[in-house]
Amino acid sequence: MDEELQREFDRVVAAEQRIEPRDWMPEGYRRTLIRQIAQHAHSEIIGMQPEGNWITRAPSLRRKAILLAKVQDEAGHGLYLYAATETLGADREDLTQKLINGRQKYSSIFNYPTLSFADVGVIGWLVDGAAICNQVPLCRTSYGPYARAMIRVCKEESFHQRQGYELLMTMMRGTEAQRRQVQDAVDRWWWPSLMMFGPPDDASSNTEQSMAWRIKRHTNDELRQKFVDMSVPQADKLGVTLPDPELRWNAERGHHDFGTPDWDEFWRVVKGDGPCNAQRVAHRRKSHDDGAWVREAATAHAAKRAAKESAA
Ligand SMILES: [Fe+2]
Ligand SMILES: [Fe+2]
Repeated sequence: MDEELQREFDRVVAAEQRIEPRDWMPEGYRRTLIRQIAQHAHSEIIGMQPEGNWITRAPSLRRKAILLAKVQDEAGHGLYLYAATETLGADREDLTQKLINGRQKYSSIFNYPTLSFADVGVIGWLVDGAAICNQVPLCRTSYGPYARAMIRVCKEESFHQRQGYELLMTMMRGTEAQRRQVQDAVDRWWWPSLMMFGPPDDASSNTEQSMAWRIKRHTNDELRQKFVDMSVPQADKLGVTLPDPELRWNAERGHHDFGTPDWDEFWRVVKGDGPCNAQRVAHRRKSHDDGAWVREAATAHAAKRAAKESAA
């Protein structure tokens, strides 16, 4: 029986069809998906903090409205993704506990501080840009609810990237001090953005199995290369320098060569020792505690309605 179910699962995956919540799936597939989607959901929610930090200090009403909309989008992305984990049998409260107890990770990029308003632009351009590179292929991932969530997420991410790039263009047309601010933000965010694709392929333990299950569609290094090739002409147009002396076009490969990110720094930040790890998790824990009364009220309201309905 199990063999037959496994064969059917393999057939669906190989045929580029979708696995749905009602379908049988190998336990490892379910666990990998829960881990990956939860990590993704946590990243969306934690990712609200570095930029949320600038909402009250946005330089104009227009910039404030754009930034508010963007940060709210990220909350929505978290919501779609937590809902997707629930279709796999995960419990949202349990995932939240794992996040605030440090037992589940989120993208290490959000452990860096946002020092000026130019960071809002550079995050939109590079961080949301890298997220798009990662996420567009996930629209074809083998698990149906995840793939469908990603289609909507990607549409919103492309707005995030454009608002960031447009903000930077505006600043680059401004004063010398503004141009310096943009370059400084680019210098700080470029390498962490490259790290968003994860460790090099030969150090990425889950890649092979995830590719076989078609959860993952490209390797970390393939996506990193794509991001670099995409960003170089954008940096040119913007008039900023990417902080990598080894960056140059390689006509033979048809791609840019580039330097090696500081993987020691990457692992340090992943393991909890980045500039803002403790602050991000503490802030998330406090918001969760502050929201306890909302969850209690919603639960009481749902119970009341259910009692009313069953009485009727
Ligand atoms: Fe997002
Ligand atoms: Fe985004």
